[in-house]
Amino acid sequence: MSVLIKGGTVVNAELSLRADVICDGGLITAVGADLDAPSDATVIDAGGQYVMPGGIDPHTHMQLPFMGTVASEDFETGTTAGLAGGTTMIIDFVIPGPQQNIMEAYKQWREWAEKSVSDYSFHVAITWWDDSVHDDMGTLVRDHGVNSFKHFMAYKGAIMADDEILVNSFARSLELGAIPTVHAENGELVFRLQKELFEKGITGPEGHPLSRPPECEGEAANRAIRIAEVLKVPLYVVHNSCRQSLEAITRARNEGQRVFGEVLAGHLLIDDSIYRHKDFEVAAAHVMSPPFRSSEHQDALWKGLQSGNLQTTATDHCCFCADQKAAGKDDFRLIPNGTGGVENRMEVLWHHGVSTGKLTMNEFVKVTSTNAAQIFNVYPRKGSIAVGADADIVVWDPQATKTISTKTDHQNVDYNIFEGMEVTGCPSYTISQGKVVYADGELNVERGAGRYVDRPPFAPFYDALKKQAQLAEPVAVKR
Ligand code: URP
Ligand code: ZN
Ligand code: ZN
Repeated sequence: MSVLIKGGTVVNAELSLRADVICDGGLITAVGADLDAPSDATVIDAGGQYVMPGGIDPHTHMQLPFMGTVASEDFETGTTAGLAGGTTMIIDFVIPGPQQNIMEAYKQWREWAEKSVSDYSFHVAITWWDDSVHDDMGTLVRDHGVNSFKHFMAYKGAIMADDEILVNSFARSLELGAIPTVHAENGELVFRLQKELFEKGITGPEGHPLSRPPECEGEAANRAIRIAEVLKVPLYVVHNSCRQSLEAITRARNEGQRVFGEVLAGHLLIDDSIYRHKDFEVAAAHVMSPPFRSSEHQDALWKGLQSGNLQTTATDHCCFCADQKAAGKDDFRLIPNGTGGVENRMEVLWHHGVSTGKLTMNEFVKVTSTNAAQIFNVYPRKGSIAVGADADIVVWDPQATKTISTKTDHQNVDYNIFEGMEVTGCPSYTISQGKVVYADGELNVERGAGRYVDRPPFAPFYDALKKQAQLAEPVAVKR
């Protein structure tokens, strides 16, 4: 079955042009002026609309077992919600428990994800270290299309990676041509501050941001960056929420280091006053790590995105319903950490980014798909409207309006952190693997249609880094 998208403006990261697009056999087969529809084609009238690569959310946690419960959104409901919002691929995380065999965890997550309705891939977290982990990292890169490894520098007593793990895993990543990524918060400091606050009688959600100040994030980001610098490995820092971590990234980039930064739609738009909401349920619904910050940090993050020092946007979609959040009613340390947003990332970024002039449409494409595709090595298969690319496309109506609400969204969680936000600019059609899966508010998805996307190890960064390393090697002086 083929699809002809007619009369729209194709917006890629590098340019925009008036062009029709034909999809056939799951791929984009033609991009050009006045294309004729094959006789069996579904024709989409995209007049006055933008035709963009489907979004890639490089940071989600569907059905994650975490903090004594399991995230409410599974791979089917979560990828469905993503398609309704124009996101056609997610990169989720395999997170082995302490001492859990890495391959066993990987197989478990692959099984869970089989019901996905859109394409997906996995970062794999390194939560402990021994020779088997070293070897399994090799197996994952060589045989299973994994090219990124995650390290949680927080969550002491659970999945936290200390410096020994970071050093071993970063060095191994370099050998394999994979990119290490970090959740940057100093877990020791967070643990201590949590205890101090609780002992002082601060037991409610207002204690959450107090126990995780921006300095804890800045310290960890800088530490990971400096470890990566010494080991000469690129680094990707997930969910930067504050000026301090952005400054660490900016400084390193200015020094020529290959460091990449991600920002969440929530961190750009929601401030920390929410943790002092009188209603526990509302405050707890926003408990995530790192926490939402004051507006000073939001301004800095927008500038980071505009300047290119932050390259990707994500959601860290990790949903817990009110009854799950209630586990921390008397102790903020027990509130499961996580919020949603996979359905809304594209529209809130368009409304607050493109409509305000902070981002051009091409920059919007970069930060919602192309940069993630390039950093995680699935470009130009993903993140581009071009002949031969996967037909993962969003047709964007810049005039459409909506009020975001949990009453109308498709996310499997009882709270939406963007509740009540009015946005202009929404997807009118989403095409996944060449099939129209969302059209004018109606979903037509198929359980299990999503494919696991292999991500090969890197060539370009690593070739460049190897050359630099060779040049830097001391030359023996003949006497
Ligand atoms: O609070 C969060 N972010 N929960 C999900 C796990 C993580 O840290 O990314
Ligand atoms: Zn995290
Ligand atoms: Zn996360």
